[in-house]
Amino acid sequence: MIDVLVEDRSSIRTITLNRPAKKNALTPGMYQIMSQALNEAAGDFAIRAVVITGAGTAFTGGNDISDFLETPPTGPESPVFNFLYALHDFPKPLIAAVHGNAVGIGTTALLHCDIVVAAPDSKFQMPFVNLGLVPEAGSSLLFPKLVGHAKASEIFLTGRSFGAEEALTMGLVNKIAPDHLAEAMSIAEVIAQQPPTAVINTKALLKSGYHQAVSMVMEAEGELFRIALESDEAQIAFMNFLSKKSKG
Ligand code: COA
Repeated sequence: MIDVLVEDRSSIRTITLNRPAKKNALTPGMYQIMSQALNEAAGDFAIRAVVITGAGTAFTGGNDISDFLETPPTGPESPVFNFLYALHDFPKPLIAAVHGNAVGIGTTALLHCDIVVAAPDSKFQMPFVNLGLVPEAGSSLLFPKLVGHAKASEIFLTGRSFGAEEALTMGLVNKIAPDHLAEAMSIAEVIAQQPPTAVINTKALLKSGYHQAVSMVMEAEGELFRIALESDEAQIAFMNFLSKKSKG
């Protein structure tokens, strides 16, 4: 089975995380396919918008925890960092259709999306501290910018999850829709009908005030994240997750 499906219908590219038995937990190979799909879409005049979604019962359970142990990212050229930069620099509208669990990068990636549609059962979580890690994907800047320092601290430092209604109130999602994918596609279709250069320039202007700052924060986060992955705190947390699973 292919773990990420990439499909173009008219001028919209859909990227579907397709590892449902593992809640679409993300592997280096999946990051690689997603980066390639975004970079190609960026350079393809025919593609006007990208929708990202998940197959099965979840958007994604985040980075595969076994990979954190076995093949941790070693530097800025690692598949996960390539994906994060492809996301950060993606010039066209990026729309997320989220349902079920959206953990770790499953939530932080949304901070780079232009529009997020969530199903009512969506459950967001950024449990970096719980895992002995630090926030990534520029979220240590983008999340407090969105919700304020107090709320961001509470969510990052406790690692608590939050639902679709709270995500809507905080402005992380645009809309809650029972058929989240159909709603995301219909928004993508409206955007795809607009003059493409105006759309690209508008997106660039919307991000221009903080794009560079996010790049710098991502670099700093990346260094701390790589160190944290090797720490006892993180290694114990990963073992705990994996041993709970093996005990059933
Ligand atoms: N890494 C590796 N495997 C993962 C995973 C992840 N991030 N997320 C889910 N899975 C696997 C589970 O180990 C399980 O595999 P198994 O059937 O072989 O035991 C399978 O996906 C189904 O997950 P399960 O935990 O049974 O589903 P659930 O509905 O009870 O819980 C989650 C879903 C996402 C809340 C839970 O799996 C979870 O907490 N995952 C880890 C999230 C995380 O910490 N991610 C890293 C963020 S940086």
